[in-house]
Amino acid sequence: MGSPPIKHDLLIRFGSEYGVEERAAVLDVLDKNAPTSDKACIQFEKDFAAYCGTEYARCVSNGTAALFLSMVGIGLQPGDRVITTPLTWIATAAAPATLGAEVDFVDIDSETYNLDPTLIEEKITPQTKAILPVHMYGQCCDMDPILEIAQKHGLAVVEDACHTVGGEYKGRKAGSMGTTGCFSFHEQKNMSTLGEGGMVVTDDPNVYERIALYRSHCTRVYGESTKYCSIDETQFPMGKRFWWQDFDDTGYNFRMTDIQSAVGIEQLKKLDSLNQRRIDHAAFLSERLEGVPGLKLPKTMPERKHVFHLYPVLIDPTTFGMTKEDFIDRMLHEKGIKVGMHYIPLTWTTAFKNRGYDRGQFPVADHVGENVVTFPVGPRLTEEALEYLVESVVSLAG
Ligand SMILES: Cc1ncc(COP(=O)(O)O)c(C=O)c1O
Repeated sequence: MGSPPIKHDLLIRFGSEYGVEERAAVLDVLDKNAPTSDKACIQFEKDFAAYCGTEYARCVSNGTAALFLSMVGIGLQPGDRVITTPLTWIATAAAPATLGAEVDFVDIDSETYNLDPTLIEEKITPQTKAILPVHMYGQCCDMDPILEIAQKHGLAVVEDACHTVGGEYKGRKAGSMGTTGCFSFHEQKNMSTLGEGGMVVTDDPNVYERIALYRSHCTRVYGESTKYCSIDETQFPMGKRFWWQDFDDTGYNFRMTDIQSAVGIEQLKKLDSLNQRRIDHAAFLSERLEGVPGLKLPKTMPERKHVFHLYPVLIDPTTFGMTKEDFIDRMLHEKGIKVGMHYIPLTWTTAFKNRGYDRGQFPVADHVGENVVTFPVGPRLTEEALEYLVESVVSLAG
C-alpha cells in the first residue's frame, strides 16, 4: 500500500506569496542588468526602516548575515559571552560562537517558548556582552524586563526577529527595541526576497556604520574632493569621480542584490495583509482544535501582535495517545500532510554538546523540543487545506 498523495495546498505551506507586483519588479531590475546592491537596495532599506520606526536599515544576504553583522556592529570580541535561548535555529548561536564568543543558554518560558527573562540575570558575568532574544514562531519576547536588565548591566540587545517581521510588543515593532534587530527573508519566512535575504535595523549611528562597513569588505571609497567618503562602493553616487578605495579591516560580502530588494519593496507593501492572513488562519486552527485532548495550542500574550510564522502545538503523548514522532509519521503516511517540528534545542546538537551542553540542562526547552509540532498557517493555504488539516488532526486524535 503506498502513501496517499500529498495534498498540494498543504505541501506549499510555510512561505510567503508573490504576485504580479513582484514579477514586474523582477523584470524591471532585469532590464537594468540586475546589479548588485544599487538603487532598489537603498529604497528597500529606507522603506524597511520607516516600517520598523528605526533610523537605519541595511539589507543583507540572509538572516544569518544580519546576526553576524550585529555581533560585529556591537563590537563583540573573542572571549565575550552572549546570552540566548536554546530553542532556536543554529544561526542565532552560530553568530557569536563562530566569532569566538561563548554562548550562555537560558531556559524558555513554558507559555511563549521564548527566553525566560527571570533567568537571565543569574547568567551575567563580567564577560557578558549581549543578550540575544529570539522572537520565536512570530511572537515577541517579553522585552521590557530584557531591556531593563541590559541597561542595568550595560549590555547590548540583539533581537533575532527572523520569525517575526511585522510583529509587535506594546506597540513597538519586533526588531526595533534592541541595539539591533535581525530579519530573514528566507523562502519560508513571512516575507521573502526570492528565497534568501535579510535586514539589520538599528538606531545607533556607530553600530550602523560598522554593520555597513563589514557587510561589504569594510570598503571606504574616496572621490572628487579627498574629503568625500562613501562607506560602500556599491552606493557610491553616480557622477562622482572615483579616486581610490581603502579597507578599514577585513570584512565580508553579505550584500543583497537589487533584484531581491525590488521584490522586498513589494513584499513589504503587502506584509501587514500577508500577516493578517496568518493571524486569521491561526485563529481558525485555534477555534477548531480547542478542546482536542492532549494538544496545547499557542497563546498570544497581552499587548503583543503575534504574526504566526508557524503555529506551534505541544503534544501530551499520554492524553493525546501518541508521541510527536508517531503523530508526524501518521499525518504523513495516513493523511498526506507534512507537519513540521522545525526547531530542537541547540543543547541536543553535536555543535553544542562539543561545547559542554546536553539534554537535561534546560527542562522547559527539553520538554518543548520533545513534544512540539509546527503546523502551517502561511498565506498560500486555502480554506479547504486548513479544513483538511483540522479534520486530519481530529480524526487521528480519535
Ligand atoms: C530564529 C532564526 N534565526 C536566524 C535564522 C537565519 O536566517 P537565514 O536562513 O535567512 O540565514 C533563522 C532561519 O530559519 C531562524 O529561524
